[in-house]
Amino acid sequence: MQAISVQSAQGNYDIDVGDALLQSVGAVIAQKIPKARVVALVVDQAIEHTWAREVAASLQAAGLRVVTHVVHASEENKSIAQVEKIWRFLIAQRVQRSDVLCAMGGGIVGDMAAFAASTYMRGIATVMIPTTLLAMVDAAIGGKTAVNLPLSSDALDASLSKDLQTNLPTHSSPNLAKNMAGTICAPAWVVSDVRTLTTLSAREFRCGLAECVKHALLADESMLSWLETHREGLRAMDPQRLVELVHRSVSVKASIVSRDEHEQGERAHLNLGHTFAHAIESLMHDQIHHGEAVSIGLVAMAAASQAAGWWPNADKFQISKRLDDLGLPVRMPASVDREQLKNAMKLDKKGQSGAIRLVLLKGLGRPGVLDVASEHVINAGLDAIGA
Ligand SMILES: NC(=O)c1ccc[n+]([C@@H]2O[C@H](COP(=O)([O-])OP(=O)(O)OC[C@H]3O[C@@H](n4cnc5c(N)ncnc54)[C@H](O)[C@@H]3O)[C@@H](O)[C@H]2O)c1
Ligand SMILES: [Zn+2]
Repeated sequence: MQAISVQSAQGNYDIDVGDALLQSVGAVIAQKIPKARVVALVVDQAIEHTWAREVAASLQAAGLRVVTHVVHASEENKSIAQVEKIWRFLIAQRVQRSDVLCAMGGGIVGDMAAFAASTYMRGIATVMIPTTLLAMVDAAIGGKTAVNLPLSSDALDASLSKDLQTNLPTHSSPNLAKNMAGTICAPAWVVSDVRTLTTLSAREFRCGLAECVKHALLADESMLSWLETHREGLRAMDPQRLVELVHRSVSVKASIVSRDEHEQGERAHLNLGHTFAHAIESLMHDQIHHGEAVSIGLVAMAAASQAAGWWPNADKFQISKRLDDLGLPVRMPASVDREQLKNAMKLDKKGQSGAIRLVLLKGLGRPGVLDVASEHVINAGLDAIGA
């Protein structure tokens, strides 16, 4: 098992990564949160009859009362209506301030259940048990919780301030303002058991890999080479390789969020490739998953970094080939209107008076923010992905 510690203003917490950790979840919670009597297990439907059962058995064996609430993971369900159902469930089960909520599943269930926990009785302890690669290396790390809000036609009304409109992240679901309500609340513990990844679809696994490549680019060359060297082991789901992958990737995000929990600066670097990716998602939401858009976005980012003069020898690192070797897409899967893509990029994050802001690299492990990206830089990125 590998352990990583995250620093948080609300108290430091551990992230444990290993193989076959689920059976010890009960004992660890009993030791970390000794006052807890009840554990509310909020689980992703996809793992209700498999991995969630192991956790429930382990909690019961540790003398805890387990109550389970199942959620169907979809962006539409990542809603305040579902959170209210969780709150009502917690009340009905007489879950107290000293008890625990375990959020178990992918990023959707994790974000939403952790939001419910961080607001129920002004916050009860949360344990994150991510079961997708993306949730292990990204969503479950850093304490951000969220639900989506409906983007009704009223919300686009001209009466809405321009500032709010330009800040509405709409990416993957056209009628949703993604992650518009949420909290930053440190969990009590994060536990990732890579065995749970064996039931994940190959496509979802690859989506997580794209975020791992992003972390590698934010780290150093050794992690990028590691990914290349262990490609086969990863494809074969070798548990040791998976533990190392998650551990390395989590370490990158954990160190960034430990330094900048509330995104005052450095945490924004985790958006590497994401301005391109969110724009691609917003135009192709029914054809592409987030991780796939991130992969294409990273290729665009590398070309844009080179065009900006920040990373003159970016092409030497063959980002596109490395992603392709991992089975990830590196070009637009269908043609889109370039102007529409640029408009979507302008809407993604608050730029200066409609300018496109990009996180780019000055070299491996050397990210920075270009506040006003020129047409030349953006076009170079879009050329590289055939947009
Ligand atoms: N809080 C953060 O900092 C943060 C960061 C990145 C992403 N996110 C959020 O994470 C969400 C995406 O997370 P995701 O990629 O995990 O998607 P997801 O939650 O939709 O999970 C992907 C699919 O896999 C299924 N699944 C989960 N675990 C499984 C398993 N072990 N075996 C088989 N199927 C399984 C789910 O039911 C779902 O169908 C988005 O809502 C995004 O906004 C949050
Ligand atoms: Zn992402």
